[in-house]
Amino acid sequence: MHGGRDWPGDEVITTPITFAASANCALYCGARPVFADIDPETYNIDPRSIQEHITAKTKAVVAVDFTGQIVQVEEIRKICDEHGLIFIEDAAHSIASTYNGKQVGNLADLTCFSFHPVKTITGGEGGAVTTNREELYKKVALYRTHGITKNPRELQERTPEDGSWYYEMQELGYNYRITDIQAALLVSQLKKLPRFAQVRKKDCEEV
Ligand SMILES: Cc1ncc(COP(=O)(O)O)c(C=O)c1O
Repeated sequence: MHGGRDWPGDEVITTPITFAASANCALYCGARPVFADIDPETYNIDPRSIQEHITAKTKAVVAVDFTGQIVQVEEIRKICDEHGLIFIEDAAHSIASTYNGKQVGNLADLTCFSFHPVKTITGGEGGAVTTNREELYKKVALYRTHGITKNPRELQERTPEDGSWYYEMQELGYNYRITDIQAALLVSQLKKLPRFAQVRKKDCEEV
């Protein structure tokens, strides 16, 4: 996602064993995806290889929970903290997974979920981003809807003459809104998540 700025020269470290989207998000921003190696046991990104690929241009790590196995969160967190990088977790495959008792969505700076029809739960299409960092939440919320805010606490140029309809476009954003119809389907799918996740895990174990 990007807010109308390009970041040429920036680098984002990710894994080559994933769907195209995990690297494309860097390209959308004008950044360069850099592929680290994987751990042959889990097929997930190898933290040691992340470390080896860091340069002065690195800004973020996109780690993918391949087939639902959570990445090595603590090691990646440590590397990101040491180098001032944003830790993004692609949780398209891991929506019901936990790590040391903590639910996915709570582990990285930003976690991305997919509700494509082949995923554990679906809204027909669509996705979600979770974060516990308020400044990142504000950016995601702004980019989601054309960079526009009506939040009175965030308005910068409102005058007493402006009406209640007043809003500001503060970034170049997008229409990334999910429809109410998709959201209604997702609410019912969420109730079935534990069952769907259990069936999927059993199917994987049997392969
Ligand atoms: C690992 C991974 N990341 C990202 C995506 C992209 O999801 P979406 O098409 O909902 O944006 C997928 C979809 O298959 C995926 O498997």
